[in-house]
Amino acid sequence: MLQGKRILLVIAGGIAAYRSLELIRALREQRAAVRCVMTHGAQQFVTPMAAAALSGDRVFTELFSLTDEAEMGHIRLSREADLVVVAPATADLMAKMAAGLADDLASTVLLATDKPVMACPAMNTMMWNHPATQRNVARLKADGVAMLGPDAGDLACGEVGRGRMSQPAAIVAAIAAFLDASTDKPLAGRHALVTSGPTHEPIDPVRFIANRSSGKQGHAIAAACARLGARVTLVSGPVNLPDPAGVEIVKVETAREMLAACEAALPADVAICAAAVADWRVASEAATKLKKDGGALPTLSFAENPDILATLAARNDRRPRLVIGFAAETGDVVTYARAKLARKGCDWIVANDVSTGTGTFGGDDNTVFLVGPEGVEDWPRMSKQEVADTLARRIAGHLAA
Ligand code: CTP
Repeated sequence: MLQGKRILLVIAGGIAAYRSLELIRALREQRAAVRCVMTHGAQQFVTPMAAAALSGDRVFTELFSLTDEAEMGHIRLSREADLVVVAPATADLMAKMAAGLADDLASTVLLATDKPVMACPAMNTMMWNHPATQRNVARLKADGVAMLGPDAGDLACGEVGRGRMSQPAAIVAAIAAFLDASTDKPLAGRHALVTSGPTHEPIDPVRFIANRSSGKQGHAIAAACARLGARVTLVSGPVNLPDPAGVEIVKVETAREMLAACEAALPADVAICAAAVADWRVASEAATKLKKDGGALPTLSFAENPDILATLAARNDRRPRLVIGFAAETGDVVTYARAKLARKGCDWIVANDVSTGTGTFGGDDNTVFLVGPEGVEDWPRMSKQEVADTLARRIAGHLAA
């Protein structure tokens, strides 16, 4: 969700600082890059070592540090981020921000940044309600700082009221929504049809033939297209993945159901066939469970499944303007991809090299070539999320041309 986003997290000195560690973890789980600045007060509650271990980056604490300034000046620190998050934002640090003070690294970075700032206040209720704090909060809002929380509840000081820092999960969601709203939507007004996952081809009511597709790549593509503003129909075989946000999902089992769902979803501007569709189904599915009766072993005979990619690409009416297939090869990737492009009648093939031990099946990374009529692009090894984002951008560029 936050793949490739860079968060500069400013941790100020309050007991809620321990929950900033959970926040770092939650942001990292969403694959954001997190870099921390800690005030001296924050270090009374949590150590820079803990923040460094969880963020996987060094932690910055000193304004007047010769080494810090030489390696990463406070100006660069304040600019190399997509969003600056202050959590917890104490009454003291917000007062400094509102007044424009810059007497330590945290306040200086906040004054020097050219990036949006989100503050998550945490303090005692009386301190929150104090007219001075409320004045500062109003000033910060007027200055364009996004405010999240504080929540009401039991406070560490034993009092009850408003003053708890928002839950880390709520902060992550707010960050995602904030960054999403600030990205451009080059696929707005487009309809993307995506197939994903394996298909299950029944043998009898309790058995089926399947394959190892996890659906990660197809689901990531659906999510990436939705993030760029497309209306997305995701036709998915059985997978163990959460439904991607902002996507209409049609759940199917067999190849024939998948084809019917795809045809029902037309018209679409682009079809991306990432599903690992079973090439064959059992010719005659048994109506009742096959039993071990001590006699001859059962034999299965097969019938060919419809090729969804080729069917969509061959349509005379309502053919999506761009039809994209996937190929998994263990050698001669480009040669086979070119042949597949011609055989299936599609426009682009995203060819996976599954020979490189990258764990493409079920793994998080992918090494791909994009093969189209104009030539072949060799993409560096990236995560499936990055492949999805890159492909979605390429689709947007193609449809706009
Ligand atoms: N595909 C499809 N319907 C099928 C089979 C495949 O839509 N019945 C699509 C897949 O979603 C993918 C591409 O076609 O986009 C893969 O083609 P396929 O012929 O299955 O290729 P591989 O299995 O990779 O290769 P090959 O059979 O050439 O070994």
